[in-house]
Amino acid sequence: MPAFSDADLRGEEHHRQLAADQLPIPAISNSHTPANGHESEEHPNTIEVPATRSAISEAASLMHSLSISPSQRSRRSSRNSFGATLPIPRLRKPSSLRPGMPPIQPSFDILAAKAQDLAQDKVKVAKNMAFAFDIDGVLVHGDRLIPEAREALAILNGDNELGIKIPYIFLTNGSGKLEPARCAQLSKILGSPVSTKQFIQSHTPMSALAEYYNTVLVVGGEGFKCREIAEAYGFKDVVVPNDIVAWDESIAPYRVFGPWERASARPRDFTNTEIEAILVFSDSRDYATDYQIMMDLLRSKKGRLGTVAEDPVKERIPVYFSQGDLLCPTEHPYGPRMSQGTFRLGFEAMYKAITGVELERTIYGKPERATYTFADEVLANWMEEIHAENVLPENVYMVGDNPQSDIIGGNMYGWNTCLVKTGVHTGDENDKENPASMGLFANVLEAVKHCIKKEMGGKFGLEWDAEKVMAADDFKASAVAVE
Ligand code: G3P
Ligand code: MG
Repeated sequence: MPAFSDADLRGEEHHRQLAADQLPIPAISNSHTPANGHESEEHPNTIEVPATRSAISEAASLMHSLSISPSQRSRRSSRNSFGATLPIPRLRKPSSLRPGMPPIQPSFDILAAKAQDLAQDKVKVAKNMAFAFDIDGVLVHGDRLIPEAREALAILNGDNELGIKIPYIFLTNGSGKLEPARCAQLSKILGSPVSTKQFIQSHTPMSALAEYYNTVLVVGGEGFKCREIAEAYGFKDVVVPNDIVAWDESIAPYRVFGPWERASARPRDFTNTEIEAILVFSDSRDYATDYQIMMDLLRSKKGRLGTVAEDPVKERIPVYFSQGDLLCPTEHPYGPRMSQGTFRLGFEAMYKAITGVELERTIYGKPERATYTFADEVLANWMEEIHAENVLPENVYMVGDNPQSDIIGGNMYGWNTCLVKTGVHTGDENDKENPASMGLFANVLEAVKHCIKKEMGGKFGLEWDAEKVMAADDFKASAVAVE
């Protein structure tokens, strides 16, 4: 890419002259190089003329002050304003457990229960630890398994000397699918059951907002999937950008609206509809349309399209983003792809450029505290599900690949943190700005083994061996005593 320094520009006098002459037309000739132009080796028939300004971008001066450090390098635990509140759902206790009745136990569990009876101290430690797994970059890359993930989960599912389940939950900034569908997909890739009761994605806690707003615009995701998600969460009246385009195609001049989209959209007179909030659930599939509609709504009088508020702040509706990651590891071989965070940063800059004021917005997902608080609720319920004990383990280990999301959030929340090398983080050293408290690991299996050994002792066996259990002296003695 051609580059010029300020020295290439001749200064004020020259600029004035350029303006007076109307910018020069480059001469298409190899023998002539105009003052301040660079000959291009790659394009011999062109002359690369420097721009009259050397600034790279105007974005910095347009950025929301809360986004000046979008990478969170300054160790703040939140991208939100002080005082912003993020509602999360209150979870009900699991009702599937039959009070007073032990869980149904297949034969493996009978043997394991016996082994656990004989090692009560170890059992106590195992139940007092838990894992929270990031998904993309730790367990999978898109639809592709990170191979070590299977063994890591097998150990936690009971492939260990006590045959005990060590609790774990999934805590992902992923989005765009209903929880049951996402769990089924993950379960297939991992070859291990994944319950919705141990699963949190970026928009899961946003279901709490259904109690706050009646009509909402839901942005992002494939087709109409995010409408389905919002409706399943209990939102009463869910509008998606396609509904608005179907009502008035001129609102998004670059949109090509296909017959399938038209047939599935729900147009109505949006000049008579008050959209009370914008919820960005997932990555935009059409930045131009989504930006335009969000901008129109945020500049309108209380979310009524066709109006423009005199004061851009007073009548502005709230906007929520389900997560703030800039980058996401995918199957793409040459580096992570841009994620919802970059979509938001672009929008913030545009909003400020157009309105002159900063956008107030709320961001869920890791590293937001609300998401970790919700994770605790889920974990306590999951403990009840697998161990019939509604207690929160004290030693939680977050395994993540993104220092600016998984690790900073876990550190701030008082969890132990493990950074892995299979995702966003590159290099052979722990992250300097937001180091993981347990360090850097080659992959999730190494991290899990390290943390279990730390809690259970170096000699704890990471394999279930029924014959060894039955042959153990303690086991034989107790078996005789039972008879
Ligand atoms: O950044 C987007 C999202 O896909 C990341 O997911 O599992 O790494 O939190 P995860
Ligand atoms: Mg990740």
